[in-house]
Formats: sequence, C-alpha cells, structure tokens
Amino acid sequence: MNMPSENIATKNPILKKAKPGFFHTLALLIHPEHIRASSLVFHRTFGLGGMALLLFVLQAVSGILLRFVYEPTPAGAYDSILFIKTEVIFGNLVRNLHHWSGMLIVVIVFLHLLRVFYTQAYYPPRRMNWVIGLVLLLLVILLNFTGYLLPWDQLSYWAVTVSTNMLEYVPLIGDGLKQAIRGGEEVSGPTLLIFYNLHTGVLPAALLALLVFHFWKVRKAGGIIIPSTKNRDEVQKIPAIPNLLEREIAVGLALIAFVLLLSIFVNAPLLERADPSFSPNPVKAPWYFSGVQELLLHFHPTIAVFVIPLLAAAWLFSFPYMKPGLRSPGVWFYTRKGQQIVTVSAISSFLITVVAIIAGEYLIDFQAWLPGLPEVISNGLIPLMIWGLFLFGLGYFIKRKFKAERTEMQLWIFTFMLVAYLVLMFAGIIFRGQGMALTI
Ligand code: HEM
Ligand code: HEM
Repeated sequence: MNMPSENIATKNPILKKAKPGFFHTLALLIHPEHIRASSLVFHRTFGLGGMALLLFVLQAVSGILLRFVYEPTPAGAYDSILFIKTEVIFGNLVRNLHHWSGMLIVVIVFLHLLRVFYTQAYYPPRRMNWVIGLVLLLLVILLNFTGYLLPWDQLSYWAVTVSTNMLEYVPLIGDGLKQAIRGGEEVSGPTLLIFYNLHTGVLPAALLALLVFHFWKVRKAGGIIIPSTKNRDEVQKIPAIPNLLEREIAVGLALIAFVLLLSIFVNAPLLERADPSFSPNPVKAPWYFSGVQELLLHFHPTIAVFVIPLLAAAWLFSFPYMKPGLRSPGVWFYTRKGQQIVTVSAISSFLITVVAIIAGEYLIDFQAWLPGLPEVISNGLIPLMIWGLFLFGLGYFIKRKFKAERTEMQLWIFTFMLVAYLVLMFAGIIFRGQGMALTI
C-alpha cells in the first residue's frame, strides 16, 4: 500500500515551524530537529510505539502512588488493596488506571510488534532494534505477571501458582528455577516480596534503560521505515516540532481519555482473599499465558512449556539475520503476493488449530495408542514430529504455489504462528470450564 502522492509538506496547513522555547527544547530530547514528511502519515505507525511509551509513563506514575499504601506481605496485601479501594481519595481510580493500562500496554506493544513485522522494519539497519524490541516485550509481560500477584486474592494467587508450576517442566533446571522464583516450595510470603521488588524496582529500571537504547536506535536508523520513493515531497525534511509533536499530543490525549473512561466505569477485579488451601476450579493462567496452558492439554509438558516456546523464540530472534528480501522494505505486507499469503496463512492456521483442539479433546490419544513408550515420546516427540512434517509440507506447497521469496515465506510462518497462538489463547480463556474440559 503506497502513500498517496499528495504534496504533504506544502498542502497540509498544520505543518509549520515552532518558535524555540522551553517545551521545544524538552521535546527535542526525544525527537530529531527534522523528520521526513511522509513519516507523519498515520498508517505508517498508527502511533503505537508512542502509545506504549505513554502507557509506561502512566504505569510508573500510578504505580508510585500505589506504593505509598500497598503492603507487600501476605497478611497485609489484600487489606491494603481494600484500603486503597475504599478509604484513599481517588485510590480506586488510581488502582483501576494501573490495572487497565497494565493490560492495555501488553496489547499495544504487541500491536506495535505486528506493525514493525508487517512493514519489514526488522531488516538492517533496524535488525538490532527488533531484537531489543523482543526483550522489551518480555519485560512488559514480566511486569504484568509480577503485578498480577500483588493484590493477593484467589485469582492472582492461583494464576501465579499454575503459571509458576509450568516451570517445573523445563529440563534439568526446572525445579530449581521454580523454587528460585517462588523463594521456596509454594507461592507464599517470599514470593510476594520477590515479585514486589521485581515489579516496582528491577523490571521498570531495566525497561527504562532498554527503552533509551531502543529510541536511540530508531534515531540512528534515520527515523522510521519508509518505502523507497523518488517522490521529492515524501522525502522532504520538515521540522519535527510542532508537526510531529502536535499529532503525538492528539493521540496521547485520546489514549488518556480512553483509559480514564474505562477506569471510571469498570473496576479492576478483586476476588476473595487468597486461600492457599482452597483451589478454585478451573485455575487459569493470566490471559497472555493461556495459549501455553492450552498447549499443555495436548502435548507432554516438556514439549508444551519448553520445546515449542523455545523453537518459536529461536525463530523470532533469528529470522532477521537471514538474507534480506530482494525488494525494498517498508510497504505493508511487502507485496500484493505477500497480502495473499498472509490471508491464506491466517485462514488455514485458524481452521487447522480449531480442528486440532477439538480432535485433541475427543479423538487423539497418543498415550493410549502407544502404551509401551514413555509419555515424553508418545505424547511429545511423536506428535511434534508429525506437526513439523505437516507444516513443512504446507510451507513447501505455499512456496511453490505462490513462487514466494524469502520475505513472503517469513510472512507465512509468522502469520501461521500468530493466528495459532491467538486461537489457543482464546480457546483457553473462553472455552475451558471445570477440570479444563472443553465447553462449547
Ligand atoms: C509496564 C509497567 C507495569 C505494568 C504492566 C504493571 C502491571 C500491574 C498489574 C497488572 C497489577 C495488578 C493490578 C490489580 O489488579 O490490582 C499491578 C499492581 C501494582 N503495581 Fe504495577 N505495573 C507496571 C509498573 C509499575 C511500576 C513502575 C510501579 C511502581 C514503581 C508499580 C507498582 C504497583 C503496585 C504497588 C501494585 C499493587 C497494587 C494493586 O495491585 O493495585 N507498577 N501492576
Ligand atoms: C515498551 C515497549 C516499546 C516501546 C515503548 C516502543 C517504542 C517505539 C517507538 C516510539 C518507535 C518509533 C516509531 C513507532 O512509534 O512505531 C519504535 C520503533 C521501533 N520498534 Fe518499538 N517499542 C516497544 C517495543 C517494541 C517491540 C516489542 C518490538 C519488536 C519486537 C519493537 C521494534 C521496533 C522497531 C524495529 C522499530 C523501528 C521501526 C521503524 O523504523 O519503522 N519495539 N518503538
């Protein structure tokens, strides 16, 4: 999808030059003096990176306020949340704000990753920034996860219990890792203290440090990715302030209004006080991990919790290091063929994953079919290899049918993984009931 070739810099009445002043200088701390005119077009970024940054600032401000009252002990945590909700002026609003923007930041950062991927902004000179971005995503998820435990209610206690139980299946170090993270055998006082310190100290500091590096890399690459063009208007440089700043402020205010309205009308959940002796049924992991929890119902735990996520992560970190595609990057979905491949990949992944979940629930039982073998082979390596061969065959078919080049095949693999994970995640969140049985 190419930019309309209007004369952006001269026809747009908003484009102007600001008089240098205090705020101008402040804004220049995170912006270059001049940017390319076409990088202002909204569909290039949808403002998602900036929104993620603003949400982090909101989290830091509301989190610091919550720290004044929150008590990180099993005896005091739940009561301090009740106190924030009922006694502290605007306490409930601040807690809701922290809760909802904590959820929203995961979604926005993920959408930002999709934007970056589908405009191929992972090729040099932005390759390293893709890798930094993946670590940022991990930090945001860890921040959300460590925050999840802090209210110390039945929801948070048991969600963290099932999620940390998954670590047991990491080969060799699983048990030690689980105990180190919990600070003992069970989720208890030491776990809360560890999570609190990670949540309000180590992780935000790490995120902040890495963000500085992330923005510096954007600047070093000469701004965001723009498809190569000979149109002089599109490559023309214009002052970033106020042209870019005004747009950022508009998007920022809209985002703040949305989060505020959500926080005014919808309370963050709070169930009964955590009771380690009574487990609700079903116990679900936080929503972003429920795809992994769903995988556990179909594969041996070592495959579901360790091998499959490791393979997916290895691919995500390494594919930008393969030889770049032949055309110039920056166009949404790369080529017309790329668009078709993404559509075919999304539809086929959706159907295949839905059928596999239903078949896994009612028909397939490798363990019963191959009773002589250890479970890690019968219900682990064998189905994994069958899936591997099936996907390889499907990929080969797509490559031949579309005469797809490297970047287009990357679109196929990524979209397939993405849709499969989303289906697994929603199946886990919506369609799993008592005893994690499928309830349609
Ligand atoms: C990206 C950054 C962050 C995310 C995604 C995040 C997420 C969360 C989540 C999901 C909760 C549970 C909210 C609830 O249901 O009650 C929480 C609680 C909390 N967070 Fe954060 N947080 C972030 C940054 C921070 C920072 C920087 C601080 C403080 C310096 C902080 C302090 C707290 C405190 C004190 C609580 C317990 C109060 C409560 O649960 O309402 N957070 N956080
Ligand atoms: C807290 C998390 C993050 C924040 C605050 C953030 C912020 C930003 C901002 C403000 C930009 C400038 C352009 C834009 O807005 O799109 C940007 C660009 C970029 N981000 Fe992020 N980002 C985050 C996470 C990620 C993730 C998860 C990835 C991918 C794995 C990523 C990869 C990139 C890349 C490659 C660019 C350059 C894009 C281009 O040149 O078009 N970032 N980021």
